[in-house]
Amino acid sequence: LFSSLRSLTEQDVSHLASILPSTPIISTFSPFNNSKDELDSFNTDWMKKYHGNSTTVVKPRSTEEVSQIVHWCWENRVAIVPQGGNTGLVGGGVPLKDELVINLGNMNKIRSFDPVSGILVAESGCVLESLSEYLAPKGHIMPLDLGAKGSCQIGGNVSTNAGGLRLLRYGSLHGSVLGLEVVLPDGTILDQLSTVRKDNTGYDLKQLFIGAEGTLGIVTGVSILTPAAPKALNNVLLAVPNFSKIIPIFRTVRAHTSEILSAFEFFDRTAYEIVCRHGHRRPFQEDIGDAQCFILLETSGGRKEHDEEKLNDLLGTLMNSEENLITTGVLAQSPFQFASIWAMREGITEALTKEGKTYKYDISIPSGSFKDVIDEIREHLRAQGVYPEGGVKAVLGYGHFGDGNLHLNVVTDGYSPKIASAIEPRIYEIVSRYRGSISAEHGIGSHKTGVLHYSKGEVSRAWMKKIKDLFDERGIMNPGKVII
Ligand code: FAD
Ligand code: MLT
Ligand code: ZN
Repeated sequence: LFSSLRSLTEQDVSHLASILPSTPIISTFSPFNNSKDELDSFNTDWMKKYHGNSTTVVKPRSTEEVSQIVHWCWENRVAIVPQGGNTGLVGGGVPLKDELVINLGNMNKIRSFDPVSGILVAESGCVLESLSEYLAPKGHIMPLDLGAKGSCQIGGNVSTNAGGLRLLRYGSLHGSVLGLEVVLPDGTILDQLSTVRKDNTGYDLKQLFIGAEGTLGIVTGVSILTPAAPKALNNVLLAVPNFSKIIPIFRTVRAHTSEILSAFEFFDRTAYEIVCRHGHRRPFQEDIGDAQCFILLETSGGRKEHDEEKLNDLLGTLMNSEENLITTGVLAQSPFQFASIWAMREGITEALTKEGKTYKYDISIPSGSFKDVIDEIREHLRAQGVYPEGGVKAVLGYGHFGDGNLHLNVVTDGYSPKIASAIEPRIYEIVSRYRGSISAEHGIGSHKTGVLHYSKGEVSRAWMKKIKDLFDERGIMNPGKVII
């Protein structure tokens, strides 16, 4: 993979500095002499699971600078890792060896916003939350939201085709991204930064870069359709006696809330206990007994009273159902309570890092089978002798129930080959049995390159490889990620 590529030298870095006098460079080479520790945050991922060995990070400020750096890398066969906020969960944004890291954090300007169409054009390094803050006074929201919003960048979101908490309502980025500007592996700038909603002029090239995880080029600009901010937002947290109630709840919720339903998120009791242990207040006043699951549902509508009435009706129906659908429920009574209910769901990922080292699986399977799959993996780990003793502390599930996306997480005392091989490939075999997806939203990165076949057949993989080779015949763009 790396045999036709070469490592950066001190002379190379000096040369880059000379052609890019205003581009910040962090490098262990002279004359920069940064320490390895200063490069650590670029070489290590958010979970501290993947570690690279890059000597040099460049932080260009413009598309032109990105193009010059990439062109030089192409000419000199130097491998590149494009990096956004480095919140990715599959190792895609950190080097495998000593690739040059091109970090997009300095490309953080908004280029335009049209208040009539709601179309925003931003540089790829804009942090998702800062784009939401920019839009708020203009009465718009970003079509996506995720727990990593304070650090992840729109270019990273596009490159991973991030799903998140609003997908149920606003769909995937394949629909809301209208255009992209991309620096191709030879440095050419592909300007597809369209700001029209409808465009059927031939192949839709931009779609290839949505979810390409930096293997086909570097996204430098994004044009995205932003929805009008809903006038009324409400959320409800339900404690549910057991998993078998969730599908009837989902159907009841949909029937009551129809077009205003904007999220239907699930977490199990293990996830709930972990998030409560790490800084989140227990939200229910009543005793929830041995409730096994929780549902966070959100509505985004036009009239607060109207939506509240619908939700109160819904809660009444659920509370009084003959099938005892819920143990109890809380309807947020204030913006603070609304935010803390969301913070609990969004805080699970971080709480898990405080609990131990987590193996994360992000799968699409039929929603009704979430519990069976979690149980099957737990029992498998028990049979392998690694749970509850032997390294595995907890097996739990949460995720975007409304989208059929389960986050199955295995919390351990530490990452170890023994535990990894106890979980994999069993988890992928199960997904394949359901004809599901081994990556619903986080991507392939370096974690799952070897197991793509569980979700993609031979013909699909062969065409993916042809596309990769067509764009990047020298293999410099994020080598070892996605397709090899
Ligand atoms: P990075 O991690 O820096 O990079 C991710 C990949 O994209 C890498 O392969 C990298 O090479 C490539 N890349 C980054 N920027 C560019 C660019 N400009 N051009 C080309 N390639 C680029 N993901 C979800 O889908 N849904 C969630 O709900 C969700 N919640 C999360 C919650 C937490 C707390 C955390 C830590 C992560 C979560 N994630 C989620 C995963 C992650 O945040 C997303 O994948 C996010 O989109 C990554 O953005 P980033 O800027 O951090 O990208
Ligand atoms: C989420 O939905 O919370 C994210 O995808 C992150 C995770 O899987 O932990
Ligand atoms: Zn998710």
